[in-house]
Amino acid sequence: MPTLINISYLATCKDEGGQGDIHPIRDAAVVWEHDEILWVGKEANLPKEYAGREIVDAGGKMVIPGLVDCHTHLAFGGWRPDEFATRLKGKSYLEIAKAGGGIQSTVKQTRQATEEQLYTKALGFLKQMVQMGVTTVECKSGYGLTVEDELKTLRVYKKLNQEQPLRIVSTFLGAHTIPPEYKSNREAYIDLIINEMIPAVAEEELADFCDVFVEDSAFSVDEARQILVTAQAAGLTPKLHADQLTSCGGAELAAELEAASADHLEQISDAGIEAMAEAGVVGVTLPLASLYTQEKPLNCRKLIDGGVEVAVATDFNPGSAPSYDLPLAMMLACNTGRLTPAEALKGATIYAAKAIQRDGKLGSLQAGKSADFALIDAPDPEFWMYHYRPNCCEQTFINGINV
Ligand code: NIG
Ligand code: FE
Repeated sequence: MPTLINISYLATCKDEGGQGDIHPIRDAAVVWEHDEILWVGKEANLPKEYAGREIVDAGGKMVIPGLVDCHTHLAFGGWRPDEFATRLKGKSYLEIAKAGGGIQSTVKQTRQATEEQLYTKALGFLKQMVQMGVTTVECKSGYGLTVEDELKTLRVYKKLNQEQPLRIVSTFLGAHTIPPEYKSNREAYIDLIINEMIPAVAEEELADFCDVFVEDSAFSVDEARQILVTAQAAGLTPKLHADQLTSCGGAELAAELEAASADHLEQISDAGIEAMAEAGVVGVTLPLASLYTQEKPLNCRKLIDGGVEVAVATDFNPGSAPSYDLPLAMMLACNTGRLTPAEALKGATIYAAKAIQRDGKLGSLQAGKSADFALIDAPDPEFWMYHYRPNCCEQTFINGINV
């Protein structure tokens, strides 16, 4: 039973107390057994029964709960650096998508990739993410868009969850865009999602969530409702890419369906904020995506003031957010989204865990939770986010093991 001592600052990140209250403990200690936390508190108050155990010295670092990246598109074929340059020359993300680039381009490259190729590439990303203190990653399909290619992607996630230390939570995103072969017959593609893809994903238990991209260029609110109601009946919890480029009622739909989260939200309406707050839907901000698409960032303060809990994630994908750096996304959520560092930390821990319905076990440092935590070379979250730099994370523990 190890005990971590000499922690200058520990951010507990309990659910209660609102977005900004991370329940800090100075000069703290953590005791865990196997994969579970037994005790967290001031080192001076360490209960006698825990004395004389294996000691791990935190070296005076800050300790935070393992970071949860609750929105990524981790497995994909190829990259799209050409579009980055094209956007910088003035073409918009939507214009590129309408001309057959964007998601379609990655679909082509993902269909060409084997399961092994996707696995190896995604594994490489995870190895980098864990070095930043990330311990759990939500991963979406959505670049296959055939029954087989969607299952291929989700099988990659299942295998990654079994064969490497980070926790993987999978989301089926067959409704990412209409694939080119169904361009003139979108109803047939929606039928395919409903009648073949969702049953196959549920049958093989390949995902916990079903996501839909609600947007002019993707799926309408009515189409999304139809897909998500079917998914719900098959045991998949709804999530939504909502109100990213246009305000089209995605947040309202998330509230209506009691989705786990609604993500992006740059163009959310006041009614959408009210509905999400009432239904307890977590809002996920993805500041890397608005930065890379040169779009207006989400003002997170408006959501918090409206009673919505805000999670922060990377949206890692080859188009709109080609970075898996969650601390960077947190720093941007501060600078462009108006979160304080403490609020961003809660957004990447307990509220992110909520967005993937894992807050019972993950996201905070409390007895009974999984022993997932990271040692950060900064005196407190404020300094960490302010003096943002690489290699701040010195060690990451998952299930009590230094990985
Ligand atoms: O979350 N908005 C839709 N989907 C992704 C982008 C995917 C892509 O560009 O490949 C997103 O930003
Ligand atoms: Fe996304």
